[in-house]
Amino acid sequence: MSSQIQVPKTMKAIQVDKPGGPEVNVLREIPVPTPKEDEVLVKVQWTGVNYIDNYFRQGLYPKEFPYTVGGDAVGTLVSTPSNSKYKAGQRIFTTAGSSFAEYLVAPTSRIAVLPDDIDARDGVSMGTQALTALYLLKESYEVKKGDWILVRAAAGGVGLILIQIAKYLGVNVIGTVSTPDKAELAKQYGADHVVLTTTPSADNVAEINKLSGGGVHAVYDGVGKDTWEENFELIRRKGTIVTYGNASGPVPSFAPLKLSPKSLKVTRPSLFSVISTAEEYEWYTTELVKIVRDGKIKFAVHKEYELTAEDVAQAQKDIASRGTTGKLLVHVSD
Ligand SMILES: NC(=O)c1ccc[n+]([C@@H]2O[C@H](COP(=O)([O-])OP(=O)(O)OC[C@H]3O[C@@H](n4cnc5c(N)ncnc54)[C@H](OP(=O)(O)O)[C@@H]3O)[C@@H](O)[C@H]2O)c1
Repeated sequence: MSSQIQVPKTMKAIQVDKPGGPEVNVLREIPVPTPKEDEVLVKVQWTGVNYIDNYFRQGLYPKEFPYTVGGDAVGTLVSTPSNSKYKAGQRIFTTAGSSFAEYLVAPTSRIAVLPDDIDARDGVSMGTQALTALYLLKESYEVKKGDWILVRAAAGGVGLILIQIAKYLGVNVIGTVSTPDKAELAKQYGADHVVLTTTPSADNVAEINKLSGGGVHAVYDGVGKDTWEENFELIRRKGTIVTYGNASGPVPSFAPLKLSPKSLKVTRPSLFSVISTAEEYEWYTTELVKIVRDGKIKFAVHKEYELTAEDVAQAQKDIASRGTTGKLLVHVSD
């Protein structure tokens, strides 16, 4: 290991001991983790809230308790394996987890250098949310210039980034959102059309089918249960429904025969199974850094929180409230 920076023995971290509501987040003083071979130690500067934090805390997704909360972070490398291409002092972004803490360990296969000309806070959005938006458009359904796509929760964290990458790739984007303010924001971020989900669904289906000339090529849906059935009415023949989240609850089980009238494809990807190998991580982070440096993505921040149990509980409540747009950030250190 090579290290230049003095590391304390203990650190502040937000932990969860048992499934429950936002109140089960506790702030603790715990030992600074020790990196294993092929791992780096990172001093965290900013971390971010993701919808998945609620799924882990509630027990919807499997997780061993107790655990340290968090997914994405931007920070400085404190120690690196002696044979690695990384050096202490470099600024990186990562989706390695346990990031609601002053220090985290990450495998070298799950970090990427954050160039000096990218803001640290933007680097947090470049973790889970932007990598997801990018893989959804590159792999879950690989968009082609001129395609029509539907983006659910278009003013959300993933949604606003998805719109911008899709526009960069030459795609026509229809967003759905729940309020006029969110509709305005989604348009500002490049959506060609935005449909309010507060209007009756028969109207929505007719409008989306008309706008897209007979249905969209793909639906990108992080809402889940509430929008599942409607997706089948606004997708075109041979289209792809990408269901990637459960903001309103998980989608119900269904028979494959449901896909046959339009010969549809359905896929249910997750970031960690799509971008799983070191090569995949490097390809996606390199591509993302290039798009960001080209000025193609503007990151929206809903609010900045502090590393306290109260703030983290509030942030997790906020992201599930339908009242947020863009990213919720947590400041960890200067
Ligand atoms: N599979 C993956 O790899 C992956 C990776 C990252 C995120 N995700 C998933 O993607 C989804 C979006 O994540 P995000 O972090 O960007 O969150 P977000 O979109 O900022 O927030 C969720 C949005 O979902 C919409 N929504 C619709 N019905 C809702 C309900 N009943 N309760 C709460 N929200 C509802 C709301 O937008 P409107 O008010 O406009 O409807 C809300 O703002 C989440 O389900 C998340 O788990 C999946």
